[in-house]
Amino acid sequence: MYGLARVCDHGRVNEIRRGELQEETFFDLVGGEATFRRLVHTFYQGVAGDPMLRPMYPEEDLGPAEERLTLFLMQYWGGPRTYSEERGHPRLRMRHVPFKVDRAAHDAWLHHMRTAVDELALAPEAERQLWDYLTYAAASMINTPG
Ligand code: HEM
Repeated sequence: MYGLARVCDHGRVNEIRRGELQEETFFDLVGGEATFRRLVHTFYQGVAGDPMLRPMYPEEDLGPAEERLTLFLMQYWGGPRTYSEERGHPRLRMRHVPFKVDRAAHDAWLHHMRTAVDELALAPEAERQLWDYLTYAAASMINTPG
């Protein structure tokens, strides 16, 4: 019927009005909130044991920093907008100005992120998209030469 699309959803056939069909976000595709929580939790386990990165984090408890990065990444990939509701516009480069992000800090950050991404065991195409973004974003956060 014109204006209706037939969509097969777990064996059921639903009719959804044209225009209401939503493309699946990357957030949904990789498993939603649970996946981002796992990613960032593993990452912060690495940070907690890193003699160069750990002292950069101002708070004794890494839990709140873990929550901020999780919410940011969820929002970036099409999930809930809780990060901006709580923190406002990301302005990530500006928020990193107080920290000395040089090549060594960049490399260490990406090293722990790589371990965390590997543990997710995503489909190769999703993994490539996530990794491309993380490497691009990390390079853009460098604010100190050397
Ligand atoms: C390149 C190396 C990086 C270093 C050394 C670094 C370090 C830090 C530090 C020390 C903080 C403060 C902890 C906190 O209070 O939350 C922070 C915050 C944060 N970082 Fe990074 N970061 C790096 C790259 C990135 C990248 C690539 C992203 C995004 C993809 C990112 C996203 C965030 C977010 C969302 C926050 C919390 C901002 C807020 O709401 O206050 N960082 N980072």
